[in-house]
This record gives sequence, structure tokens and C-alpha cells, in this order.
Amino acid sequence: MEKMKKTVEHKLSKERFAHTMRVLETALEMGEKYGVDAGKIEAAVLLHDYGKAYGPDQTREKLKDAGIPLDEVMEENIDLAHGLLGAWLASREFGIEDPDILNAIRYHTFGREAMSPLEKIVFLADYIEPGRQFEGVERVRSLALRNLDEAMVVALEQSVSYVTARHRPLHPLSLKALAYLKGEKN
Ligand SMILES: [Fe+2]
Ligand SMILES: [Fe+2]
Repeated sequence: MEKMKKTVEHKLSKERFAHTMRVLETALEMGEKYGVDAGKIEAAVLLHDYGKAYGPDQTREKLKDAGIPLDEVMEENIDLAHGLLGAWLASREFGIEDPDILNAIRYHTFGREAMSPLEKIVFLADYIEPGRQFEGVERVRSLALRNLDEAMVVALEQSVSYVTARHRPLHPLSLKALAYLKGEKN
């Protein structure tokens, strides 16, 4: 784990590494509350933005070489594929095989249906880490240690309206994640 941390620190920008450390602190606190393994949290969080170490062209190239297809939304916005690349690098460079860790990395940007507690924690910690300042973040912060699913619903709703208000591309998986959580509740 120490070696992984050093490598990530070396490859990411100072700001991005500091963000990663804040996500880790937040995620570990949540993991304690929800009984999720700290080692899994550490691996997933350390590598969640590792794919951002590569620029757009390299990301395309690496995913192509790995035989990992891009969907339409990622094709147009390659930045959204950094989770896919991160998961691939996690297995390739660090030998991580645990599917839960890989999925937490892969889906941290837009979520998906039927997320595990680890996936939700990484998604939410990335969203609410102390460096985040935007309207609505406090609401999710206060929910995050009380109810994972409610926090997910609010975070997803907020990101969907943020993205659509700015006419930015919305990944369909975020809508599916939201519909799934709401359906489960009813
Ligand atoms: Fe990310
Ligand atoms: Fe992040």
C-alpha cells in the first residue's frame, strides 16, 4: 500500500494527490461507520483518479490497446473515461483483482445500478471531501454518515441537474443509478 501511495503521489499533480488524500480521510470515516474494509477503501481511493495521470490521447490509446470499448458519452468526453482507465491500471500495474475495488474505481465518476457499499463510499467521499465547495455539498455531507442511499440519491440528483443545466453530457448510468435507488426505496 505504501508503494502504491508513493507511485500515485509521483504520477498525479500535487493538487490531485491532495484531493485523493482528502477523499481517503472522508472515505475511511464513512467506512468505519458502515463497516467497510479499510484496506479496500484505501486501494480504491488511492487509485480512483489514477487514470487522470494520462492525457486525452494517451487515455484513448491505452484503452484501445487494452481492448476496453468507450461508450458514446465517453467517446465525446474522454475525461469521463478516467475511471475505466484507472481500474485497468489498478489490475495491470498493481495486481488488484478484487472486483469490488475495481468497480469502485471504474464507476466513481457517474455511478451505476446496484452499487456496493464500497462503491457508494468512494463515489460520495469524492463528492463531499472537505475541499469541495458548491451549493448543496453540505446537504450530502450531513447525510453521508447517516444514510448511504439517501446521500447517494441527493448527490446524484444534484449532479444530474448541475450537468443538464450546463448542457454538459450526462452519463446514462447516473440516471440508472438514481432510478435504481429510488425504486429500491419504494
Ligand atoms: Fe474522478
Ligand atoms: Fe476524485
